[in-house]
Amino acid sequence: MAKSIGILTAGGDSPGLNAAIRAVGKTATDSFGMQVIGFRDGFRGLVENRTVRLDETALSGILTVGGTLLGTSRDKPHRMPMGDKVLDMTDAIVDTYQKHHLDVLVCLGGGGTHKNAFRLLQKGLNIITLPKTIDNDLAMTDSTIGFDTALGIATEAIDRLHSTAHSHHRIVVVGVMGHNAGWLALGAGIAGGANVILIPEIPYDIKKVADAIRQRLRSGKSFSIVAVAEGALPKEEARATQAAVEAKEKAKTKEEKKKVKAQLDKLKTQQTDNTLNFSKQLENLTGLESRVTILGHLQRGGTPSAIDRLLATQLGTTCTALIDEENYGVMTALRGKHVEPVRLEEVVGKRKTVPLDHPWIETALKVGISLGN
Ligand code: F6P
Repeated sequence: MAKSIGILTAGGDSPGLNAAIRAVGKTATDSFGMQVIGFRDGFRGLVENRTVRLDETALSGILTVGGTLLGTSRDKPHRMPMGDKVLDMTDAIVDTYQKHHLDVLVCLGGGGTHKNAFRLLQKGLNIITLPKTIDNDLAMTDSTIGFDTALGIATEAIDRLHSTAHSHHRIVVVGVMGHNAGWLALGAGIAGGANVILIPEIPYDIKKVADAIRQRLRSGKSFSIVAVAEGALPKEEARATQAAVEAKEKAKTKEEKKKVKAQLDKLKTQQTDNTLNFSKQLENLTGLESRVTILGHLQRGGTPSAIDRLLATQLGTTCTALIDEENYGVMTALRGKHVEPVRLEEVVGKRKTVPLDHPWIETALKVGISLGN
């Protein structure tokens, strides 16, 4: 009996998702005679049984298209907004899976998606995941779908910002995505020739940043580019955030959890305001004008890079081979040039941040980039 595959995309969109959907769909039908049903808007599509048949017509011409033809959402199966309530809709998802006589559910997503997919695995569904996020912060895989494209977009943006910084003798502060990991800011900062790179893994001291900029002034360079990862924090805030995270882990009662969550949310909101405030402080400390550009969702837009198309196709074709072998409960992970299955237990709940001894850190320091510490 030909197998039936369900597939969904969840979490932030990224370039390369459609390339991965195409790879799963094409090989499933062409090589294994399987049928593929797409579910709309992440896990919500399973709750509401909103589907699209992924046949040859649906898959044609999507390799180069950004975003996801299925749509996506950040809705969690066990905490699904339903009208004015938030309900556990896991049973409805299991019900849809059974109604469609699915053999496996393929989930394309980042950290949050992997946690949700693992919960469904524990409920008895066959699951395979593909690592997707521009943040590259999923454990056990060398890279994730979308990271390379976002790296290129952020690098090109920094290239362009050199012109105005140089012409106006200004500091330009560039806000880079990456959630709580510094891969994008570090990679694009080095590739784009930033002079300072601030990442979450290295809490910074703004005085050290100002010193680096003044040092450049003394050597005749009247402009500086500062790449700031959205999760980067000054030392004092990093300590406060760490304390709040530890308190959250220790929190027992609903009251305590609510209090700590409010504290963390407040710290998070400050981060966005902080980039503007950070830029103002740099003006005061250096005497140079400073301007801010937050790259935001530009980094998730448009056609995937060749590397992301290759990665997405490799992951997708490996996925269908694993389905044929009935090797479930795994993520397709890039390890060197190869794609291997990694047990979901080894991935879920772990974030891959930049190790302080990573070659990119060493490279940045060697080429004279300040990391703010
Ligand atoms: O996880 C990808 C990502 O782009 C992060 O870098 C960013 O912090 C987040 O998604 C933004 O989420 P949203 O698109 O829901 O605002």
